[in-house]
Order: sequence, then structure tokens, then C-alpha cells
Amino acid sequence: MSQKELGNIVDRLVAGAAMDRNGWLRLLSLQGEEERQYVQQRAMEVAQQNFGNGVFVRGLIEISSYCRNNCNYCGIRCGNRSALRYRLTKEQILECCRAGAGLGFNTFVLQGGEDVVQSDDWVTDVVCAIKREFPDKAVTLSVGERSAAAYRAFRAAGADRYLLRHETRSDEHYSLLHPRTMSAVNRRNCLFTLKELGFQTGSGMMIGSPHQTLEHLADDMMFLDELCPQMIGVGPFIPASGTPFEDFSAGSVDLTILVVSLLRLRFPHALLPATTALASLHSRGRELAILAGANVVMPNLSPSDVRNKYSIYNNKKSTGDESAQQIESLRQSLDAIGYRINFSRGDYDDK
Ligand code: 5AD
Repeated sequence: MSQKELGNIVDRLVAGAAMDRNGWLRLLSLQGEEERQYVQQRAMEVAQQNFGNGVFVRGLIEISSYCRNNCNYCGIRCGNRSALRYRLTKEQILECCRAGAGLGFNTFVLQGGEDVVQSDDWVTDVVCAIKREFPDKAVTLSVGERSAAAYRAFRAAGADRYLLRHETRSDEHYSLLHPRTMSAVNRRNCLFTLKELGFQTGSGMMIGSPHQTLEHLADDMMFLDELCPQMIGVGPFIPASGTPFEDFSAGSVDLTILVVSLLRLRFPHALLPATTALASLHSRGRELAILAGANVVMPNLSPSDVRNKYSIYNNKKSTGDESAQQIESLRQSLDAIGYRINFSRGDYDDK
């Protein structure tokens, strides 16, 4: 497409116009270095208008590597006999929160596999305990598909946000990535329920997952338009040993960056993380995502002895660093690109 045409399309996106499937497909197909640079630059400008040079931080606590599901891409699928398993206790989670609070974090993200031992009641109790001790901090849950009643209980206990990637909008593609026990329809229903209950809701997809086409990604963009999530996480697919997809190649860093930019242009106020998957594939992945419009980083607050056990894909970036050191090195790498950590809660705000 000509530079003029691309400029017009981006102008329309920035002005808030919706894009049809074919429009997304054309944008996702941009190959030229110059075109991609242009999109990224415009996305970075939109992020700067809305968030200045601040990047929000969330303290990530990986609460369990047990999972009842058997997703074909995921290293902690129940069928992976070589996966290392652990689950944190409520007291361990509270300790992580205390350490995080001491470092200035105002948001905690509890993420884990769908561990049947960490039941709905257990999760509810943990949320209550965190909120009792830290009433002003935001609690984000990412513990998979649960019943509407469970989500309601989490919300009543004080959980503020929920992350659940839709993974792919296409029912057919979804069924190639997941076991028959799971369905795209149920996943989407969960997301709409979470939104209805008033959670700031996060969705998203992997880039370059096996059998994915650009048409699928265009459908993902259309779906996100319909859901209008407050947070959108996208990262490249990375093969995980011991899974049916262990021999597939990883998704493209460049395409991931392009998608981050397109998301920023379409969802100017959304919270878009520079994901660990991107940082795991590329030494400057985090910085590249921020320069393409991402505005969130999620440092790992899990106890250091379990960090290498939450192995959802190979070579997941994880430092044995103390959390304080992680923050210091994040501060330095952001400083080098002209950004700084914003420690505030970072609630979604579209005013
Ligand atoms: N590569 C990249 N991302 C993955 N996820 C799970 N397995 C992989 C993998 N092999 C992502 C999924 C999930 C999130 C927690 O991590 O999108 O929703």
C-alpha cells in the first residue's frame, strides 16, 4: 500500500474509526520495514499522549503450575509428565505481596494453571486475605475458566481485574490448539461474564501459534473490538518441550510488535503489557514492545525457588534476581529508552 494510503488508514484508526476484517488483514500483511516503522511510530505517539513516558508495573505471582487442562501449546498441560509442579500456599502468596508492597507495587497479579486444589473457595479466601492487608492495592486474577458464580465470589471478595486470553477467535483454530474438553464458546462466555461483573478484563492471543493464519489474527482484532477489553496481552508462541507442539517454530517477533502497535492504535487507553514471551525470544523484546505502544511490565514476584517451575514454554525469561534487583534493572532499561516506571495502580481510564 502507498505511504499516503497507510497514513490515511492510521489517521482513521487514531480518530476512532472501526476497521473491517479486510482492513485488518491488509495492516497485518504489511511487510515493508518502512511501513512497519511508521505504524510503530504512530502507535508510540498515541501511547505517549495517553500515558506520557510512564510504564505501569504489576507484581506477578505464579501461584500454581498444576493444571487440569491439556492445551497443546502449554508446558504445564496436565499430560506433560516432565513438567515440574508446585503450588503456593496462601501464606506464601501473602509473603510475595508483602515483598512487592515494600518495593512499591500497587497491583498484584495471581496467575496459575487451573489447579483443582486451588478451588473457587480457596481463591476467594486468598483474595479476601490480600485485600484485608492491602485494601488499596489492585488484585488481578488469572486462574482460568471458572463458573459465573465463582467469578461473582471473586469480585465480591474484592478482585479488581481478571486476565483470560481468548487465544484465538476462530472456533476451528481453537479446536486445533485445545483438547476436546474445552471450547472457544465457553472461553468467550467467560470473558463476557467477567466484563459484566465489572472486572477490568484482559484478553489476548498468541502470535504465530501452530496453524494460525493472518485471517485468524484479523478475526482476533474484530473479536477484541466486540469485547472491548481493558487489557490485551499478546506474545509470540514459543514451543514447549513435552507438548504436541514442541517441534513447531516460534512466532515472529516482528509480527508481534506490529500487532502491539495495531492494538495501541485501535485501543488508545488499553493496558498493553510488554510480555515475558516477547522478552524471552528477543533480548530487547520488552523495550521494542514499549516503543511500539505497550505500557505495562509484569515483574515476577514469585519465590525464586519456584520461578523455573512455571515453565509454560522453553527458555522462559526468568532471573534468579531478587525482586529489588529486577526493579533496578527494569528502571535502567526503561531509562535508556526515555521511559520510567509508574508505580500507581494503573486502572483503566478512558477519560
Ligand atoms: N508460548 C507462548 N505463550 C504461551 N502461553 C501458554 N503457552 C504458551 C507458549 N507455549 C500463553 C497463553 C496463556 C498465557 C498464560 O500464556 O496465551 O493464556
